[in-house]
Amino acid sequence: MAEILTRIIGTGSFLPERVLDNKYFEKIVDTSNEWIMERTGIKERHVAEPNVASSDIATVAAKKALKSAGVKAEDIEVIIVATITPDMFFPPTACFVQKNIGATKAAAFDISAVCSGFIFGLTIADAFIKSGKYKNALVIGAEVMSKIIDYTDRNTCVIFGDGAGAAVVVPEKGNRGILSTNIHSDGNYAHLIQMPGGGTRNPITKEMIDKRLHYVHMQGRETFKIAVRAMEQSCLEALKQNKLTADDIDVVVPHQANKRIIDALAERLRIPEEKIIITVHKHGNTSAASVPLALDEAISDGRIKTGNHVLMTAFGGGLNWGSILLRW
Ligand code: ACO
Repeated sequence: MAEILTRIIGTGSFLPERVLDNKYFEKIVDTSNEWIMERTGIKERHVAEPNVASSDIATVAAKKALKSAGVKAEDIEVIIVATITPDMFFPPTACFVQKNIGATKAAAFDISAVCSGFIFGLTIADAFIKSGKYKNALVIGAEVMSKIIDYTDRNTCVIFGDGAGAAVVVPEKGNRGILSTNIHSDGNYAHLIQMPGGGTRNPITKEMIDKRLHYVHMQGRETFKIAVRAMEQSCLEALKQNKLTADDIDVVVPHQANKRIIDALAERLRIPEEKIIITVHKHGNTSAASVPLALDEAISDGRIKTGNHVLMTAFGGGLNWGSILLRW
């Protein structure tokens, strides 16, 4: 008898119009286009205008996903927004999106799993759908990273970008949909990437702001090593869960943090480059938005085809990491 799987039936994404290329950063910090290209693979990134918040770009991506899914906003039952750049501490960014799209019936909440946010969000949606709790879900990754980046810190400012991606999922009988999810965390590495200020540990004070604690602080080299290992293990776990080998994977949609990280992962998994979706050169690291942005692009340009085994994987601050394997 056919199983009930959680299937993505529509995706959408949005990138702000303004683009910052590497030459821009040469003017504001001690860096070079060559260094950025060689060490990260990033050529440019999109940056939102000052009056734009995460819910604004999440709303555009959500509307596109609903349209491509053929689902009305008023029929959506749950909205999950993965973001580390919420409009406000509270209410949840998801509630602003709910209002903007008119999803009057939906429960709406945010999750914070940094760059793995979309993988974590989709894992929650999958559990909701499989349990029968909801008949559909709208999962969004949306970040306006430019608002929490220190544009005097060359270690971080060249890396991040803004954007949003969304997916609508429903239960479906058959063999298309999410086959497995795995998510992991290790708080021992919480210090590697964090925004230390503005929360209850270091509340907003003049002193905190003078120390620039309200910006992203990252130990890149240490994160790099763990990232490759963690994603590799998570991908191998996904393959094992489904009794598949790397040869069975048609498309990999990895978190877009750094081209070298993606290359190292592909090499360890022995998956050829043509099967890997790369957007980091033009988006930078958009945190929770990076996987749904890359997914939407690969669906739109036909690189993901019906029946393909698609492996999505991510890692990020927390540290958090995980993978989702699905049959498209
Ligand atoms: N331009 C020029 N030099 C730079 C720049 C820059 N933009 N940034 C750093 N450097 C310098 C460093 O200061 C260092 O100089 P030093 O040797 O004199 O101290 C030198 O370059 C080498 O620094 P490393 O950190 O060793 O460089 P590395 O090759 O590791 O590249 C990078 C740095 C790109 C950050 C890389 O480590 C990386 O991508 N790490 C992973 C980060 C990541 O993926 N984070 C994802 C999670 S993000 C999230 O969860 C929100």
